[in-house]
Amino acid sequence: MPVLLTNNYSGPYHLCPALLITKAEKILLLAGMEDHELSLLLLDDPAMQEINRQWRHKDKATNVLSFPQGQDDAFDQHPMLGDIIISIDTAQREAQDNGLTLHRYLTTLLVHGFVHLLGYDHERSDDDADEMFALEHSYLTAIETRRTKMVNLAINVDHVATLRQARGNTEPDPVTAAAIAELAGAVGIVVHLREDRRHMQDRDIEILRKTVQTKLNLEMGATEEIIKIALNLGPDMVTLVPEKRAELTTEGGLDVAGQKAKLKKVIARMTKKNIPVSLFIDPDSAQIQASKEVGATFVEIHTGRYADATSEEEEDKEFLLIAAAAEEAYESGLRVNAGHGLNYVNAGRIAALPTIEELSIGHAIMARAIFTGLDQAVREMVDICRFA
Ligand code: PXP
Repeated sequence: MPVLLTNNYSGPYHLCPALLITKAEKILLLAGMEDHELSLLLLDDPAMQEINRQWRHKDKATNVLSFPQGQDDAFDQHPMLGDIIISIDTAQREAQDNGLTLHRYLTTLLVHGFVHLLGYDHERSDDDADEMFALEHSYLTAIETRRTKMVNLAINVDHVATLRQARGNTEPDPVTAAAIAELAGAVGIVVHLREDRRHMQDRDIEILRKTVQTKLNLEMGATEEIIKIALNLGPDMVTLVPEKRAELTTEGGLDVAGQKAKLKKVIARMTKKNIPVSLFIDPDSAQIQASKEVGATFVEIHTGRYADATSEEEEDKEFLLIAAAAEEAYESGLRVNAGHGLNYVNAGRIAALPTIEELSIGHAIMARAIFTGLDQAVREMVDICRFA
């Protein structure tokens, strides 16, 4: 086990130990030291202050400290490189000041601590500092591979069908809405064919399969009837969601960890037909790992609790959960989408997360479209994605 992580932090900020271990392992690999061990200790400001006071006679907390093991030139005899100690309280404050999510900033601290373990020291001289920062930059660039384009916007047109079904006639037609959304810049159309057919009808998805020019994403519960329809239809992808008859809208993420065998089979059937599968999950490490295990191509991170937050503090907390989950899923090799409850105020922050490929948005855009027209409503959301 090359990275030994001890988490003594019990404060309010969510930590994803698996993600930090992955990052530390990547750093070891980049340095050609994957056969060495590294100890990583996470704690709070008072504990960091105590260590700083005891070992460096500085009576204050700091962001990161490194303590090499043994002599600098004796790595071969000492497979344990040393300890990197990080204060999460200070890291979170600095992350916020730098406009970074906590886990992205922790990566920069990890790299900084690691380079210190190698014997570099920016406090020795300007030349040493230049050399150390250049090495850190090269490690960070190699580790933080990210999306280079803007986030994609996929439009959910279910609400257009809901309005039509309210009268049981033929308008408004979600097929027309999908075409307008594509012309306005959406790069995907999402439709949820529910078992009770409360909004989208079989006729809608059959026409959309022929008319959608970008990408048709069929959202569905994993029931046999809908699975057969999906296999026959051949959408560009499917998103599996939990579906309850009594709910107004999808209420939570799929419990992938609790039904791995079933989902594995469904995904295998879709894969045979070349239909990539996305799993709609809460921002939760266990669900991400399970999604990877069952063979999903994508996860869609549920942003509902973030969108429904009633205070800035709660919104920040939910945002950090999403940011860490997106990063963890991305690092594990999954492609990452996000959606639910996103609107013109809260979507920008999610769109700016560089590990997220696509946002799936419906209600807020249709609500605005009533007053501004659908074309305008989609364009405004495309702009939010573009400038995030
Ligand atoms: N993603 C999933 C999986 C959904 O179930 C929904 C709602 O249909 C959305 C995204 C879009 O949510 P909203 O309509 O709140 O934008």
